[in-house]
Amino acid sequence: EGLPRFRNYPPVDFTVPAERAAYPASMARLRAAMGKQVPLFINGKDVTTDDTLDSYNPADPGEILGTVCQAGVAEVDAAVEAAREAYFAWRDVPPEERAQALLKAAAYLKANVHDLAALQVLEVGKQWDQAQADVGEAIDFLEYYAREMIRLGKPRRMGRAPGEMSHLFYQGKGVAAVIAPWNFPMAISVGMVSAAIVCGNPVVYKPAGSSSCVGRALVDMWKAAGLPDGVFNYCPGRGSVMGDHLVDHPDVALIAFTGSMEVGLRIQERAAVAQPGQQHCKRVIAEMGGKNATIIDDDADLDEAVLGVLYSAFGFQGQKCSACSRVIVLDAVYDRFVGRLTQAAKSIKLGPAENPANYMGPVVDKAAQENVLRYVKIAEEEGRVLVKRSVSDDVKATGGCYVPLTIVENITKEHRIAQEEVFGPVLAVMRAKDMDEAIDIANSTRFALTGAVYSRSPHHLEQVYRDFRVGNLYLNKHSVGALVERHAFGGFKMSGVGSKSGGPDYLLQFMDPRLVCENT
Ligand code: SER
Repeated sequence: EGLPRFRNYPPVDFTVPAERAAYPASMARLRAAMGKQVPLFINGKDVTTDDTLDSYNPADPGEILGTVCQAGVAEVDAAVEAAREAYFAWRDVPPEERAQALLKAAAYLKANVHDLAALQVLEVGKQWDQAQADVGEAIDFLEYYAREMIRLGKPRRMGRAPGEMSHLFYQGKGVAAVIAPWNFPMAISVGMVSAAIVCGNPVVYKPAGSSSCVGRALVDMWKAAGLPDGVFNYCPGRGSVMGDHLVDHPDVALIAFTGSMEVGLRIQERAAVAQPGQQHCKRVIAEMGGKNATIIDDDADLDEAVLGVLYSAFGFQGQKCSACSRVIVLDAVYDRFVGRLTQAAKSIKLGPAENPANYMGPVVDKAAQENVLRYVKIAEEEGRVLVKRSVSDDVKATGGCYVPLTIVENITKEHRIAQEEVFGPVLAVMRAKDMDEAIDIANSTRFALTGAVYSRSPHHLEQVYRDFRVGNLYLNKHSVGALVERHAFGGFKMSGVGSKSGGPDYLLQFMDPRLVCENT
């Protein structure tokens, strides 16, 4: 109440000298302080463990950002217990007060936006503008879910029967396990965590191993917001050691996950099994993979289309679930579009994200590098290589986790490179004789996350609106960088279960509705 209407945090403006100068200054500050041990945070206290994992700069793996303590089974148990104890009080804190905590957290992020973005440049190799957009999206989630909770927090009168007063309202489900990815290390973490918390669910948060230092920033954020002990617990750990244990825990009531299809399916399967002592059915909200297509119509504005595909396919090295990994080009414009795309891909600069002149940098870590290289090979076997560009030898000599920017053509629906999510800068070019065939190809995977269409034909735009069946479809616009509210985000089929993040149905998944009817 009295809150201004929700507005998205503005994108960075590098024409402002102070915005440009902020990054080198922040990175220098971070470098002077980094490389320390990073403890867990359970029940309001730091906790150290013997097992640790180094988080390193993917552009220079010798540079360690932090030596991160790793939760085992005992620490998970302690964190779930702390969250369970905190639940009974937190559940009944008035919704407006819980919303206030999110607004305070947002204020903390706004005050520290450059340091938090610079940390991503160093820890995951994200380009400056995109790192700032990630922090901006985290701010948006906090501001939006705070308002959503205020909206949903008012009991709703149901019916108007005389002699009866009926109200519907919501309560938090219980302890939430939040399992987050490294690719939007602050935005997606803060989005899932803040949704759970604002709805009255204390959180055990497991960040990804390669972005655990960004994850630790959530501890500072919630401290600044004044959350009670036990409501937010930071629990990095090896999936192989503690992942199943966290998911299986009988006191975990809901699991919010963003990551691969394989892990998402495993979580759903395990969460369906009631453990001894378990008192509830577990709710799983899972955002999974994509194999997203962009269709280029024969009347498309090619200037826009080339830039849009380039950014969707190779921005942050293609490591977005929303990334374009298939471009489907209509016959009549095929040679012109593909020629220009190839030229553009050959002209962009490759190298560390620390230098803003570079369009594409290293992938997140050595495991990702190996995985993408495997797919580059598959792409070469299945198609005809149009572009395969590596960083220069002097950049290569730094030992960074680089993979070649790869574009192949002659790919058809049956190919693995047309069906499997790569999570790297590998783009398959596919040819279609007309819009019907293009839509058929676009819909031919298990996934249904994002898509884009470049066309000037009202008839075709109408057709794809109806028949290109994905969670987020963008017309004459690239397929990445969804904004909270305006582009409420998420898909269906094998792209996930649950409703869109940053959208009006999202919070409902984190609560149980109750109805009280009084005979008056
Ligand atoms: N929300 C991101 C995007 O739209 C993906 O997670 O790019």
